[in-house]
Formats: sequence, C-alpha cells, structure tokens
Amino acid sequence: MKTPFLALSTLSAIALTALAAGPDISKLPPAAKTTGLTYDKDIRPMFEKSCFKCHGAEKQKGKLRLDSLEATLKGGENGPNVVAKDSAKSTLVHSVGRLVDDEAMPPEGKGEPWTKDQVALIRAWVDQGAK
Ligand code: HEC
Repeated sequence: MKTPFLALSTLSAIALTALAAGPDISKLPPAAKTTGLTYDKDIRPMFEKSCFKCHGAEKQKGKLRLDSLEATLKGGENGPNVVAKDSAKSTLVHSVGRLVDDEAMPPEGKGEPWTKDQVALIRAWVDQGAK
C-alpha cells in the first residue's frame, strides 16, 4: 500500500507546483505596437467572429458575455478576466493564447484558434487600458 500512496502524493505535489506557477506567460506573443486600439473598432469584431456564439446574446457559457465593453470587463463566473494595463495577468488573454489546453478559447474543435497577430493585438489593447 505504501508505493501507490507515495506515487499519488508525488503526483499531487507536481500538480500543485504547476498550479502555483501559473501558465507560462513567455509563450504569449509580445503586444503589438499598434496604438489607439478600442473595443468597438478592434476587439469586438474579433469576439463577434469567434466568441459571440457562446458568449453573446444567445448563450453565456461560464456566465460570460463579450458583446459589450462593459460585459467584457465585468467577466464571468470566476470574476474579471481582463486586468486593464496588464495583459500578462489577464486570463482572457491566456485563453486566446491557448496557454492551458482545457482553458483555451475558442475551445478545441469549436472554432479557429487565434493567430499570433490577433493575440498580440488584444494584448496591446489590454496594456493600453482596455477602453
Ligand atoms: C463553443 C463555445 C465557446 C466558444 C466559441 C468560446 N467559448 Fe469561452 N467558454 C466556453 C465555456 C463552455 C466556458 C466555461 C468554462 C469551461 O467550461 O471551459 C467558457 C469560459 C470562458 C472564459 C472564462 C470565464 C470565467 O469567468 O470562468 C473566458 C475568459 C472565455 N471563455 C473567453 C472566450 C473567448 C475570448 C472566446 C473567443 C475567442 C471564447 N471564449 C469562445 C465556451 C466557448
């Protein structure tokens, strides 16, 4: 009985370490240099194409809507996922950057993954204050 217990506790120690460390931010592309980004002009159209069907008027998966700036900043069942001026801490950015498999958005097989340019653009928008 001792060996399985040891194996289990080692595994959970590894899992806990991974959780504490958080996702690997270095895998995100750097923020784009584009200035003057706004939700209405630059971000909403990207959300409309790949997120509204689950986070819009019809469905609100994870209690999250992305079809207005106000709703986007309010966040979902786990609270805000955009930290204005800090894209590296914004879990919404982690999700489109696909840092963690089971939190990647759009979910695997449910739409085109965002390109590096798109992730770079939303990073820049968040870093500029998410207006
Ligand atoms: C096919 C449906 C679907 C699409 C498309 C989709 N999502 Fe999601 N999303 C979900 C589900 C389901 C959850 C609930 C958590 C989970 O089960 O992973 C979720 C949760 C989230 C959360 C966490 C909310 C919280 O507070 O827990 C974020 C952020 C998010 N999605 C962002 C996006 C973004 C950005 C897009 C578009 C790029 C997108 N999602 C597209 C289904 C979808």
